[in-house]
Amino acid sequence: MNVKGMLKENSLKGKTVLVTGGATGLGKSMATYFLELGANIVIASRKQEALDKAKDELINLHGGNVVGISCDVRNYDEVENTLKKIKEQFGQLDILVNNAAGNFISPTERLSHRAFNIILDIVLKGTCNFSLAVGKDWIKSNQKGKMLNIVTTYAWTGSGYVVPSAAAKGGVLSLTRSLAAEWAKYNININAIAPGPFPTKGAWDRLFPKPFRAFVDPKKRIPLKRFGEHQELANLAAYMVSDFSDYMTGEVVTLDGGEWIYNAGEFSWLDKIPKTLWSVIAKSTKKK
Ligand code: HXC
Ligand code: NAP
Repeated sequence: MNVKGMLKENSLKGKTVLVTGGATGLGKSMATYFLELGANIVIASRKQEALDKAKDELINLHGGNVVGISCDVRNYDEVENTLKKIKEQFGQLDILVNNAAGNFISPTERLSHRAFNIILDIVLKGTCNFSLAVGKDWIKSNQKGKMLNIVTTYAWTGSGYVVPSAAAKGGVLSLTRSLAAEWAKYNININAIAPGPFPTKGAWDRLFPKPFRAFVDPKKRIPLKRFGEHQELANLAAYMVSDFSDYMTGEVVTLDGGEWIYNAGEFSWLDKIPKTLWSVIAKSTKKK
């Protein structure tokens, strides 16, 4: 597939966007498209080397302003310091994308309390930290702003074997709706995207590791029978952080090829019934 960019040229011109976890995976794909649309880009995560590499790649592709700031989202001082640096460089931050995450698969009873907490801290506390620091700043300076949180579909269904992530993403989902209700009066819009499986090294190495791949094909769970393309997610994200979505707040948009609704549906398995058998079934179920 060759998915094209969706928004008009310069749709984010003059906006400064922070993407946490923006040096890799989906964060990097979103940052790349926002840059193409004219935004100043700040990517923030722990590994400076990855930030520098991504910054070079983005500038080579589209030119423009890209800054990488080393920041652990779990540490509130580092979060405030990141915002300070952004304001020094660009005057203000307009858009916050809470994308950084940690995750792994494990039977929950095998986890140490540290392993459980590390995921809660990155995903839930990290998102709270940036939302609070940035929200306070926008309210103080009477500034319009957009926040976009990246959750998952199991934020509402729950899921075994990724329990810390599910609990944390559920918290982020609730944070999204709660803050959206409270901060609409300040002209702050807060929305979320719930992606289904989009191939990234970070997710695939940890959630679909090599020993699994012979037995499990995650594509088989998706009724549209393919994974998402990064540009499809970037298109949706760009709309949701742009001025075009000013009337949207507290919303969570699912982008998963129908995966969660298909697997939740009581009778979706009837897909497996051969067409020819339906006449026999109709005969036995229709009134004579
Ligand atoms: C069990 C594990 C573990 C694993 C680490 N731990 N990996 N326990 N199974 N696979 C435990 C460690 O033993 C340790 O506990 C504690 O967790 C902290 O581990 P560290 O390695 O010291 O932590 P750190 O180096 O900070 O790494 C954090 C991390 C790592 C979360 C563990 O995976 C990471 O950096 N992740 C960032 C990127 C990421 O996860 N991307 C995927 C997002 S995908 P003890 O008790 O031994 O000290 C996603 C998609 C969801 O969210 C939906 C897909 C469809
Ligand atoms: P990824 O490439 O591993 O991205 C995670 C990013 O978070 C990394 O850049 C990582 O950088 C950063 N990060 C982790 N801990 C951090 C911390 N303490 N402070 C700052 N940054 C930290 O994985 P991805 O697949 O692109 O995931 C991106 C987002 O999409 C996540 O929110 C994930 O839950 C969500 N999602 C992904 C999928 C999928 O199929 N890929 C599906 C549903 C939801 P450092 O390690 O350098 O800090």
